[in-house]
Amino acid sequence: MDRRTFLRRGSTGMASLMLAQSAFALDYWPKSNANGLARLEDKPLTRIAFGSCNQSHLDQKHWDVIARDNPDIWIWLGDNIYADGTSMEERIRRYLSLKDNSYYKNFRQTVPIIGTWDDHDFASNNMDGHFTDKAASKIALLDFLDVPQSAKVWNHSGVYQSYVLGPPGQQTHIILLDLRYNMNKTLSTREILGEDQWQWLAEEVAGSSADLLVIGSSLNLTSPVVGLGLEGWTEYGAEKRRLLELLASVPIPTIVLSGDRHFAEVARIQLPNGKPIYEVMSSGLTHANGIKLPHPGQLATVVGYKNYGVLAIDWTISGPQVRMQIHSTGQYGTLKEIMAKFA
Ligand SMILES: [Fe+2]
Repeated sequence: MDRRTFLRRGSTGMASLMLAQSAFALDYWPKSNANGLARLEDKPLTRIAFGSCNQSHLDQKHWDVIARDNPDIWIWLGDNIYADGTSMEERIRRYLSLKDNSYYKNFRQTVPIIGTWDDHDFASNNMDGHFTDKAASKIALLDFLDVPQSAKVWNHSGVYQSYVLGPPGQQTHIILLDLRYNMNKTLSTREILGEDQWQWLAEEVAGSSADLLVIGSSLNLTSPVVGLGLEGWTEYGAEKRRLLELLASVPIPTIVLSGDRHFAEVARIQLPNGKPIYEVMSSGLTHANGIKLPHPGQLATVVGYKNYGVLAIDWTISGPQVRMQIHSTGQYGTLKEIMAKFA
């Protein structure tokens, strides 16, 4: 269902709610390029900032901290707001409240923003694609992100998106996956992406001539630790293997960004053909726990600190050279830095 159909139906009363809130309404309806991507033009990305798990009713001062870091772009990796089990009206109200927050408002005026979602903004804790309001939830997210009406994502069964940024030779291909819309936990072999998204992803990866591939996945990919309420690709063994095989097939340096677990880690695994896959998990922006979940691929963890991540890319060093950083959302600066080695 596209946004026009949704509005015509007025199935949740969202349109009338928006019209009644004229102060929000002008800001709410996306303008072309309102997400700021046009500002990037053909500039190589040198600082990609990202994060997840943002309780929008909590202090949002961290946007000032991240802005001072001068990122070229911000990537939401999910749980961008928390709207568990709420009505669609309330979900939209929470997006609008964040969008109208003075710290976030300043941030989005200077930093281009893209993103995907996870369970808490999509629907509710650990919810899969059986969520009956998922089409409306998609519209709410894409409008929050100011995704232009011309973008292909409006025609997808989900919010998966692709961005190729930078000039040839210094080009970053950012692929944002949707792990919720087509997730099916009721099958004997549980599914996470859905066949349409798999086909799209295979075409994106096979057709890429970029110099760096960045995959945004709301859930952790490389850690074998799941259970105890933790979600991760490891619960979807067949699809995890399929993704790793797909990534092995493309000779482009690859970094996966993830969120969700309320701590940060940097990990590295080596695929059977020798290609390394790095993963930087940053979570959360407003709340963090102190639980360590060690595993063999883990290179570094940050627990107990609210955090965001940065990929600092040096295109003058062949590879390119990428410093994978975890930063404090507050006063503590850079908490951890690991160099990705692609040679
Ligand atoms: Fe989550």
